[in-house]
Amino acid sequence: MYGKIQTKKLLKKLEEKDISYLLVMNLDLPQLDPNFYYFTGLDGYEHSIALLGEKSRVYVPSFEVPRAKRESSIRDIRKTKAGLTKELGKFLNNKKVGINGEFMPVNFQKKLKRNKIKLVDASKIIEELRVIKNKEEVERIKKAASLSKKVLKKVDISKSETQIVADLIYEYARHGMKPGYDPIVAFDGDSTVPHFIPTNKRGGKTLLIDAAAAYKNYTADITRTFLLKPTKEMKKVYEIVKEVHDLAIDMVEPGVKASEIDNFMQDFLKKKGYSCPHSIGHGIGLLVHERPYISIKSDEILKEGMTFTIEPGVYITGKFGIRIEDDILVTKSGHKIL
Ligand code: GLY
Ligand code: MN
Ligand code: MN
Repeated sequence: MYGKIQTKKLLKKLEEKDISYLLVMNLDLPQLDPNFYYFTGLDGYEHSIALLGEKSRVYVPSFEVPRAKRESSIRDIRKTKAGLTKELGKFLNNKKVGINGEFMPVNFQKKLKRNKIKLVDASKIIEELRVIKNKEEVERIKKAASLSKKVLKKVDISKSETQIVADLIYEYARHGMKPGYDPIVAFDGDSTVPHFIPTNKRGGKTLLIDAAAAYKNYTADITRTFLLKPTKEMKKVYEIVKEVHDLAIDMVEPGVKASEIDNFMQDFLKKKGYSCPHSIGHGIGLLVHERPYISIKSDEILKEGMTFTIEPGVYITGKFGIRIEDDILVTKSGHKIL
C-alpha cells in the first residue's frame, strides 16, 4: 500500500532527531498537505490529521472512516470530533512533535501548544524524503509524462486557447488521469507571460502549450511551442531555446550543482543576445513545483532519484514566447528523459 515505505523512512529520521511523532494535517479543499497523502496513502480527505510514530493513527471525518480503513496501511483510523486537540494533548503530552511548518496554520499551532505539545518544524526532514523518488514514484511520473506528450501531439490548433484546455483535460480524463496543474495555452503575444491564463483567443503564428497530466497524484510538467506561421526571428529563437534545452539536459548527472545548470543557460542565452526571466527548472512529484530547484539561487547537489524539469524560455515582449520543457530523472550515472 502506498505510504508504507515513505512512513518507514520517516520513522527512522524522527528517531534520529528524537522526535516522537509527526503530525500532518489537511484543511479544507484544496488546502491539503501533500505529505498527508505521502505518508498515509489517503487522497482527498478534508479536515484530517495523521500522527505518524510508534503508534500511528489517523483522524478523518466520520463519513470517511470506512474509505480510510480500505485505503491506508495505517490500521488505527478514528473519527474527528470536537475537542480533538485536547485528546491529542493527552496522547502527546510533553512529547516532541514534528509538524510541517510550511503548511500548518499558526492558529492551529497555538492550539496544540496550549495543550502542552512541544512542536518542532520537521519540514526539512520531510523535504529530504520527498526530494528522492522511489521506483514507483518515478513510474507514476513517467506514465503521466508519456500521456501528456501523446496528447500534445494531437492538439487541434484551429480551436481557441480555452477550448484547447478543455480538450487536454478531456484526454487526460479518458485515460484515468487529471491535469497536474492548470494548462497554459497561449498564442503569439499571450505566450510572453510564462504562466499565462488562457482566453478565447484563436489562431496565431506561434502556440505555446504547457500542460501535463498527473497519474496517481504524481504530475509531469511538459511544454511545447508550435511554430504555426513562423517569422525568421521565431525560428531563430526556437533553435536557440532547443539547443540550450538539449545541452542543459546533457549536464544532468549525480554530483552536479543545480545552480551550474541554470548559470549555463543564462550565459548561453546572453551570448546570443537573449535572457530567460525564470530559472531553468524545478522538482516535480506530488507538487508541480517542489525541490530540487534548478536555479542560480539553489544550493542543491543533484542525486540519483531526483526528478525535475528543464525548461529554458525566451520571451520577446509583445510578440511571442518560446519554451521547451521536459522532465528529467537523475540516474546512477547520468539521466533519463521521462
Ligand atoms: N507548468 C508551470 C511551470 O512550468 O512552471
Ligand atoms: Mn515547469
Ligand atoms: Mn510547465
